[in-house]
Amino acid sequence: MVTKAPVRVWRDGELIDEEAARFPHLTHTFHYGLGAFEGIRAYRVGEGQGAVFRLREHIARLLQSCHLITFQDLHYSAAQLEQACVETLRANGLAAGYLRPVVYLGAGTMGIGATNNPIHYLIAAWEWGAYLGEEGMREGIDTQISSLRRPSHNGVMSKAKLTGGYINSILAKREAIANGFKEAILLNEQGFVSEATGENLFMVSRGKLITPPLSANILAGITRATILELAHDAGIPTEERFFARDELYLADEVFLTGTAAEVTPVRSIDRRRIGAGRRGPVTEQLQSAFFRAARGEDSRYARWLTPFSL
Ligand SMILES: Cc1ncc(COP(=O)(O)O)c(C=O)c1O
Repeated sequence: MVTKAPVRVWRDGELIDEEAARFPHLTHTFHYGLGAFEGIRAYRVGEGQGAVFRLREHIARLLQSCHLITFQDLHYSAAQLEQACVETLRANGLAAGYLRPVVYLGAGTMGIGATNNPIHYLIAAWEWGAYLGEEGMREGIDTQISSLRRPSHNGVMSKAKLTGGYINSILAKREAIANGFKEAILLNEQGFVSEATGENLFMVSRGKLITPPLSANILAGITRATILELAHDAGIPTEERFFARDELYLADEVFLTGTAAEVTPVRSIDRRRIGAGRRGPVTEQLQSAFFRAARGEDSRYARWLTPFSL
């Protein structure tokens, strides 16, 4: 009989068995959603060898999210958290996988005004294939514009990746799935295109790659920044500007980017075919450039990788 190795998580400085990592039921973040997290991928780059993609940028964003929610006196430096991510992958024998660091408020005082509860750190890792499906990666996905709006900058701040911030995304995603779509695209309060439930959005129009600006209530996606740089290096003109749904319906190509979704083409929005109704040539070019960079096949982008051995 093959016994499965226990899943190990990193918590507050040590690797422990998942079974031992149970939470007290009065953990503050569990009740009110005040916590910050990240989603990070590692890719296999050789036999028994992995590389975490843009680890430095992800941990920097985690610390920014903590700052925005006033988790300021942290116990670990960026370098220690980066090291902990690699240790968690190693402890689970994962050369490729998804990392989920979470910084959360523990048990103590139970009110909304609690300020003295301990801050805890958790890092989990697991294998995760194509988030929006292998077929979606090749053929494109069907999407809808959500009836929900991206929260405003004066509500849940969109530059913070917060546990509670995902309620809106989950409701939009559930609505899309119930309506037979794979993903939802959200407008902001002003009616401009913002982003999808867990991805940033790009469109290609007359040879130009266009994406909403950071001020469009979007998360400052690390894959978004990666794609803008890859496009620039490939000589594809880029623009960050506001646009509305009608311009999006008329785009030649649309795709979504995110750590989980990587680069996923969109073939329809609200039952309107986008371009030829399949993955377009610019999308394919950037998708392939992205995977080459992430898998360590393009030495120009080696600086984005944190290599490790199992
Ligand atoms: C709401 C939202 N927008 C965009 C993204 C894409 O960000 P990144 O490319 O840094 O993963 C994510 C995923 O983290 C997200 O949850």
